[in-house]
Amino acid sequence: MKSLREVIKEVEQKKTAIGHFNVSNLEQLKAVANAAGNLNLPVIVGVSEGEREYIGIPQIVSLVKNYRAQGIRMYLNADHTRSLENVEKAACAGFDSVIFDAANLPFEENVRNTIDARNFIKKYSSWRHKILFEGELGYIGTSSEIRTALPEGAAVRPEDLTKPEEALKFVKATGVNMLAPAVGNVHGMFANMPDPGLDLERIKAIRDAVRIPLVLHGGSGNTDADFRGAIDAGISIIHISTELRVAWRKALEETLKSNPNEVAPYELMPGVIKAVQNVVERRMRLFADLPSS
Ligand code: G3H
Ligand code: ZN
Repeated sequence: MKSLREVIKEVEQKKTAIGHFNVSNLEQLKAVANAAGNLNLPVIVGVSEGEREYIGIPQIVSLVKNYRAQGIRMYLNADHTRSLENVEKAACAGFDSVIFDAANLPFEENVRNTIDARNFIKKYSSWRHKILFEGELGYIGTSSEIRTALPEGAAVRPEDLTKPEEALKFVKATGVNMLAPAVGNVHGMFANMPDPGLDLERIKAIRDAVRIPLVLHGGSGNTDADFRGAIDAGISIIHISTELRVAWRKALEETLKSNPNEVAPYELMPGVIKAVQNVVERRMRLFADLPSS
């Protein structure tokens, strides 16, 4: 199987993006694996600190390994890692990439902490297993949830978005392999309206300045047109979480309601997996520039 770095190079050349989907249970993971298998596309599975804690690091690492052995091109990312202890745990467990998230801190502090995290990554990264390291610049909120308001303190006004010159300074100082900027994106999604629009020109200006792959976080709730525009402007990886959570909960509620006497999980869960899978497939098709089914 190709390395994640090679897959990112490929999507850059094709002007497409690779989907990153957060999971915290077996059903969501199965849904992502089924979607990737059906479409024969590479995919990144992300687990935040909370998701890792719940599913278990050795468990998710071996599940992903198993899917790979079955021919699914699945990569594993330690999403939004906020402590050095957790950076080290993920790095030595065999993750393909680690995101260190100090985006809520002032610039200099973010740089200092990101450098510390990078030093841990270096210790565990080798030519045989290169761990990609991502840093974040610009605060976009923290929770993958249904929103009624923008996350407090999130950078959404043009003057607060990540600036190309600052991004370059950050990348040079920290040596990150990939950068997650604030370009109008926010974590979570609104129930009845799309998320605020993305600043496509800003994405392009940052990409031109830093010349490393850019990652769009907070993908749930953005319009298809914004996603396509963001990919054209230089985004290589797109994170989606809330949309999977919403599909999971809705399908679970409906399934339980229509099967009041069923108690076997393996009878109840296939419909839930399918509902999440549909969301993942739709996003993967869009990011890979495939026709919608
Ligand atoms: O890292 C996870 C994501 O950025 C997901 O954000 O819940 O808005 O899709 P989302
Ligand atoms: Zn994120």
